Amino acid sequence: MKDFDWASLSFGYQRTDYNVRCNYRDGKWGEIEISSDEYLNLHMAATCLHYGQEAFEGLKAYRCPDGKVRVFRVEENAARLQNTCRGIVMPEVPTELFSEMVEKVVRLNQQYVPPYESGATLYIRPLLIGTSAQVGVHPAQEYCFIIFVTPVGPYFKGGFSTNPYVIVHDFDRAAPLGTGTFKVGGNYAASLKANQLAHAKGYASEFYLDSKEKKYVDECGAANFFGIKNNTYVTPQSSSILPSITNKSLMQIAEDLGLKVERRPIPVEELETFEEAGACGTAAVISPISRLDDAQTGKTYSFGDKPGPWSTKLYETLRGIQYGTVEDKHGWTKVIIE
Ligand code: PLP
Ligand code: COI
Repeated sequence: MKDFDWASLSFGYQRTDYNVRCNYRDGKWGEIEISSDEYLNLHMAATCLHYGQEAFEGLKAYRCPDGKVRVFRVEENAARLQNTCRGIVMPEVPTELFSEMVEKVVRLNQQYVPPYESGATLYIRPLLIGTSAQVGVHPAQEYCFIIFVTPVGPYFKGGFSTNPYVIVHDFDRAAPLGTGTFKVGGNYAASLKANQLAHAKGYASEFYLDSKEKKYVDECGAANFFGIKNNTYVTPQSSSILPSITNKSLMQIAEDLGLKVERRPIPVEELETFEEAGACGTAAVISPISRLDDAQTGKTYSFGDKPGPWSTKLYETLRGIQYGTVEDKHGWTKVIIE
């Protein structure tokens, strides 16, 4: 294993040895190439640079206490990327190609999969870009699919500890019928200003309401939202949020643990009624919310300064499955290094 101060890693980019690439030309995907170059040689008129033909994914590899390295729900990330491809007119990356490249890039960089005890993980970042030149607004003819990896620590401060978030009214990350359900760079560009303002005021992240009416809860920066009350896990239904694989898994785990699960529009006022609340995602895992401050009304919704009992149970179960210490009864993990 590499000599890193793993435990002090934050969520940032660290160079690793290899990335893997595959080009799409003449209507088909080519061979997988292994590269140690961190740079791309790109045409200045490539569609990814001008018209946002860019999609990415995020998943993690875990070094487990049994010594194996596991990945979590890779096929779900492949399926979400395919959905994004349909959304912004890019050729779909077949699931087999996606999975093969994930496995290859993790094996090639296995020295960078952090030790179990560190709490850090290997973040896997697949990226698909339109590479051929186009000046009119049209999809590219050629694409490049790349996967790189980087060891990361917690996304939100303190890992599994509570943080405050701010409800923003002056920003939308995506339009109601826009690209919010796709994992495209444009949604993140639209979030940068609100995110910067939130950080400047000491919040972990900005928190979005629905873009059309600002009446319902949308999501929590780069993570989905869930609230818990009356033994029920409640999470938003919205046409502009990213369908989170972590949230999908937590809904199943919640049900397995005996909670009811509701996926439906959540009126802002209902925030007052939750006993616990959290942000969830691959990077965030579960990041419990201490309070939500409404930047416009000045109202504060508080959920306590310590992770609540259900959030803790959900977190421990999810982590346990990812690290192979809790039975994986839904077959979500795959051992890629024995
Ligand atoms: N919402 C947004 C906007 C995200 O960027 C992410 C991260 O991928 C999520 C939610 C969580 O999704 P997942 O659990 O699939 O990582
Ligand atoms: C993830 O959770 O994988 C994300 O994509 C969040 C962020 C780093 C964009």
